[in-house]
Amino acid sequence: MLGGEHGEVVERSFRLLVRLGEIYGADRMIHVGSVQVAGVSYKSIGDPGLEFLEDYASKGAKVMVPTTLNPPGMDLEDWKELGFPADFADKQMRIIEAFRRMGVMMTATCTPYLTGNLPRFGEHIAWSESSAVSFANSVLGARTNREGGPSALAAALCGATPNYGLHLDEKRKPTVVVNVRAELKANSDFGALGYHVGKIVKGKVPYFKGINAADADQLRALGAAMAASGAVALYHVGGLTPEAGLMNPEGLETIEVGERELKEAYDKLNTGGEPDIVILGCPHASLKEIAALAGKLEGKRLRKPLWICTSRFTKEAARRMGFVETIETAGGKVVADTCAVVSPIERMGYKTAGVNSGKAANYLPGFCKQNVVFKNIDELLKAVVA
Ligand code: F3S
Repeated sequence: MLGGEHGEVVERSFRLLVRLGEIYGADRMIHVGSVQVAGVSYKSIGDPGLEFLEDYASKGAKVMVPTTLNPPGMDLEDWKELGFPADFADKQMRIIEAFRRMGVMMTATCTPYLTGNLPRFGEHIAWSESSAVSFANSVLGARTNREGGPSALAAALCGATPNYGLHLDEKRKPTVVVNVRAELKANSDFGALGYHVGKIVKGKVPYFKGINAADADQLRALGAAMAASGAVALYHVGGLTPEAGLMNPEGLETIEVGERELKEAYDKLNTGGEPDIVILGCPHASLKEIAALAGKLEGKRLRKPLWICTSRFTKEAARRMGFVETIETAGGKVVADTCAVVSPIERMGYKTAGVNSGKAANYLPGFCKQNVVFKNIDELLKAVVA
C-alpha cells in the first residue's frame, strides 16, 4: 500500500495511518472488522470536505471493510417537507454520493450497532463518532480508538489501523472510580451523570459503582454525554458492562456523585426558558424509545414542533408498528438520518431547543446557537403538548 501499488488514495491513507502509529508508538498495523465514518454533514465539513471526498471518489477509492455512515445534516428523503434549505441540501447530497461511490453503506446513523454494523466482543474496529465509539468499547466490548473523520476513512480504505490505545489490554483498565449515590430514573439522568463525570475525568477510563440497573439506551445516554464533555471513549459499570468483571478497580482515585451533583449538571446545561422545538433521539432513538414515545403521544395534540431523530432503518420498523402514524397524528415528526446537532436548525428559525440528551445539551449552544432546555421526556412533553 505504501509503495503505491493500490493507487494514490490508498498510499496517502496508509501514510496517514503510519504517521498516527508513529506518534502513538504502535508496534504494528492490525486488521479492522468494520469502520464507522463521521464528518458527513455539510455543516461540519463544508466545501473543503466536500471537495476532498469528491476527489477521492473520482480517483476510484473503495472501502476494503464494511463501513457505515454517520448522520448527514438533513433527512435525506423528507428534507424539503421539513424545511431544510435547498442550497444546503444540494451540497449534502454531493457528499452522500461521494461516500456511496466509495462503497460506504448508507446507514446515516450514529447507532450503527442497531442497523447492521454490530462488532463482537474483542473485535478490533476503527470507528469515529464519539457516542458510537463509547458504546462499542464499553457496552459491546469491541476495541476502537476515538478516530477522527480522516483517520476512520483511511482505515476503511486500507482495512487496517495502528495498534495502540484502546486496542491494547493495558489501556482498557480503569483509571478512576465513580461512586454513584444518586437515583437514576430517566435517560436524561444518565446524560446529566455523563456530562458531570466527563467534565471531571477528561479522557480517563472511569469504573462506575452504584449503578445497579441500566438498559442499553441508558448506557448510550451516559456514554454519549461523557464522550462529549470529557472525551471518554471507554467506561466500565460494575455488574453491567462486559469487561467490568475482568478489572480490578481497588485503590484508584474515587469521585463521589450524589443528587446534588446531578442537579448541578441539570442546572449548568439548562440555558433556556421555553423551548420552541423539542428534539429527541440523541444518540439516534431506538425502536424501544420510539415505542415508548408513541405511547405517550397517543391521542395528544402538540402545539410546538417535536422531532424524534433516528435512523431510516428504525423509522421503517416504527412505521410498520404504527408508531410513526401515532406521532405524526399528534403533530410530531420522526426525522430520519440527521440529528439536532449536525443539522442547520439555527437557519430554520429555532432559537431554544428542548432535549433530553446530555450530549445534545452540551453541543447545541456552540454548534447550533441554541438556548437549551435539558429535561426528561415527560417534562419536555408538557412544554409542547396542547
Ligand atoms: Fe448522534 Fe447527533 Fe447525538 S450524531 S450522538 S444524535 S449529536
